[in-house]
Amino acid sequence: MIFLKYICYLDYGRLIVFLIQNKARVMINQQLNTGVITLIFSVIYQNQADKEEEKLAETCARCSCGSTESDLRYQQLEKIISENKGKPGALIPVLHQAQELFGYLAEDVQELVADGLEIPLSEVYGVITFYSLFSTKPRGEHTIGVCMGTACYVKGAAAILKAIQTELGVGIDETSEDGLFTLTVTRCLGACGLAPVITIGEDVYGRLTPDKIPDILNKYRNNNSK
Ligand code: FES
Repeated sequence: MIFLKYICYLDYGRLIVFLIQNKARVMINQQLNTGVITLIFSVIYQNQADKEEEKLAETCARCSCGSTESDLRYQQLEKIISENKGKPGALIPVLHQAQELFGYLAEDVQELVADGLEIPLSEVYGVITFYSLFSTKPRGEHTIGVCMGTACYVKGAAAILKAIQTELGVGIDETSEDGLFTLTVTRCLGACGLAPVITIGEDVYGRLTPDKIPDILNKYRNNNSK
């Protein structure tokens, strides 16, 4: 369009432009001076360069040039999808591995999984939101799970949850500012005898009281600062 505007502005009626398969081929009257020719070719070149840049940006976002770590993760995802495609119940294992790769399941990852497994995006999203182990937002280094099952609730899980929220300054499903902790709530963890119970990653803490929370969290903070 920019190219055509230049032509109209200069009012060179004898200039003929053929657009064939998205490539501009230009026939220029010999009477046009060199400056105009340079201008026209500059515009064509710039348009071409803009298109190439857009194409490259799109390609890198979805990965296939393999030039960055991020692209490699997309390549790995494609491999995971192709290995599981057609298998019954493939969606959950694929999502699980995708989350391990990226840390969470962003929209573009959900779309790639849906396209790759040839299932509706709504089905992918439904599974992600149903299972609490999946997250659509970036997670902290340690995920805290506060059990809100009946036994834990009766033994004071709500006070434990509040103590953690106060200590970290976050709500449920949020990540602390230092990026260390993501707070979640869970159903019964099968350790009711230890109620109230929380998990931090693979670690389990039972028979908790709110005053124990700062020391427990500090252990992880200190480990991280070493
Ligand atoms: S209710 Fe919390 S472990 Fe069972």
